[in-house]
Amino acid sequence: MADQPQVIRTHHAGELSSASVGDRVTVAGWVQRRRDHGGVAFLDIRDASGLVQVVADPEEHDVVDELRMEYCVSVTGTVRERPEGTVNPDLETGEIEVGADSISVLSPSETLPFLIDDRTEVDEKTRLQHRYLDLRRPRMAANLKARSRATAAIRKTLDEAGFLEIETPTLINSTPEGARDMLVPSRLRPGEFYALPQSPQLFKQLLMIGGVERYFQIARCYRDEDFRADRQLEFTQLDLEGSFWGKEEVLETIESVLKAVVEEVRGETITEDFPRMTWLEAMDRYGTDKPDIRFEMEIVDLSDIVAGSEFGVFSKAIDGGGTVRGINAGSQEWSRSRADGLTEKAKSLGAGGLVWMVVEEDGSLRSPVAKFLGDNEVTGIKDALEAAPGDVLLMAADRWKVAVTVLGALRLELGRPKGHDDLAFLWVVDFPLFEEDEDGRITFSHHPFTSPASIDEMRDDPHNAISKAYDVVLNGVELGSGSVRIHDPETQNEVFSILGIDRELAERRFGWFLEALRYGTPPHAGFAFGIDRLVMILQNEPSIREVIPFPKTQTGVDPMTGAPTRVDEGQLGELGLELGAAARERQDT
Ligand code: AMO
Ligand code: AMP
Repeated sequence: MADQPQVIRTHHAGELSSASVGDRVTVAGWVQRRRDHGGVAFLDIRDASGLVQVVADPEEHDVVDELRMEYCVSVTGTVRERPEGTVNPDLETGEIEVGADSISVLSPSETLPFLIDDRTEVDEKTRLQHRYLDLRRPRMAANLKARSRATAAIRKTLDEAGFLEIETPTLINSTPEGARDMLVPSRLRPGEFYALPQSPQLFKQLLMIGGVERYFQIARCYRDEDFRADRQLEFTQLDLEGSFWGKEEVLETIESVLKAVVEEVRGETITEDFPRMTWLEAMDRYGTDKPDIRFEMEIVDLSDIVAGSEFGVFSKAIDGGGTVRGINAGSQEWSRSRADGLTEKAKSLGAGGLVWMVVEEDGSLRSPVAKFLGDNEVTGIKDALEAAPGDVLLMAADRWKVAVTVLGALRLELGRPKGHDDLAFLWVVDFPLFEEDEDGRITFSHHPFTSPASIDEMRDDPHNAISKAYDVVLNGVELGSGSVRIHDPETQNEVFSILGIDRELAERRFGWFLEALRYGTPPHAGFAFGIDRLVMILQNEPSIREVIPFPKTQTGVDPMTGAPTRVDEGQLGELGLELGAAARERQDT
């Protein structure tokens, strides 16, 4: 390769403007594009700040003929106005160009696996195999920048509010947050394992006991759970905690942080307080604990109207202690197959079926069940759902939880806005303390360190006990959760015992933590929200993978490095590990 120029860069491409005309500059970056026009070559040179057009005479500069896409170059020349008629209003630097005196290749590029622009569709595996090239695309560069601005705004807001940024360990014992732990074998203590943190939960509580009154951390967390668009094995939380704090202080602080991030990343000012809703209200009106309140289509209770209906599905559900609920899905393209599709979806979510009705021009209802409904029922249903001609009405008759969840899911399918142009934050408060898992066993609904709203209520009726837990929701995505914590060991033990963790087991697993609670623990509360999810929404991206620099695919693989990979026997031996039959068999294939 030729010698490198003495000065590689004096100016960033994106900062050049009409004000720079006449200046001698050296820019450095990548060749985005090269066009040849009758003895003149036009080179678009891109760096992190933007793009500038360089004009070169190939006769004068032999090197021009060598230049291919994504060659890394340094160009020295003079900034000049573009000739009339060639100004490009779509480009920040579109009024000027750089007339090249010298061009040096800093580093050539092989033929690219895909074009570096936002227009070309590339499959995700290829993108991730060459993520470093993918990151050169404007969309990805913008996402990285947004992420950095978001964390900067978080740090600034919390620093000004007197928080300490503190790191907690990532080689720890299991912290239950409801997912599987990722384990790391210990070489020095064969047969023993560290768990990677699902969250810094217990350490931040220990910091409160340690006299730190305001803590935050931009914390990497690890959860071995099934992948979804908004889940990865490792992800980043803003985690915080405060002593002598209750719910209001947490909500106020988190709200100010989120508003600062939105301002910084989107340039939008949110002046209003985020609306609040109890968990029960969210479930009842939207069929989910994370309502997307950008659109209405709320769930309406029709039980009183159809209580004595001749239509057995309705009356039987109500007689059996259930409910009949409906939504007005507005005007929808309606067909037999659409109706069947939605009914299938309702059934897959546990419903017995789905009643649909279309309001005709004359106000009558077209529906397979219309003939069973009396005039009063028709009028009652239409009034309750504020139905107008052309509207599609959907109804579910079931136990409350099933009916609202099914309609909540259909509501999203039929009404949810695409993308995230508008932002609708929402607090959901007063979550249940416990819930039932798939096998009907009682389990925690947030985590086992969350305070009950009332200890008596918890003792009397744990299944219906309310907790001091709250979530923040953005556009129907659970962004974050937090709670007031249990700060006395007796209550903590009682919660463990309701969860089926008896004293002995609690002592074995969490004895160190229960002991800490016994030394004058201040009342404390906190919160954590997912930074990946927040930036995904603010950047209008469909998946958190688009805002994570080096994510894993849906199957947990990094197509670039190949992780996770096999390790050799020697390394396993050092750790005192041996592969079982199933793992060995997999290796042989
Ligand atoms: P929680 O378990 O609700 O609470 O997690 C808080 C937030 O972290 C994000 N998140 C994830 N993001 C990407 N991939 C994942 N696999 C993933 N799992 C969670 C979500 C979620 O809302 N210790 C408590 C907080 C507290 O009580 O202070 C906790 O971790 O945005
Ligand atoms: P069936 O009596 O099962 O033939 O159902 C008659 C109609 O009621 C069909 O359109 C079903 O989809 C609907 N249906 C059945 N069960 C329910 C239910 N639990 N909620 C709402 N609609 C139902």
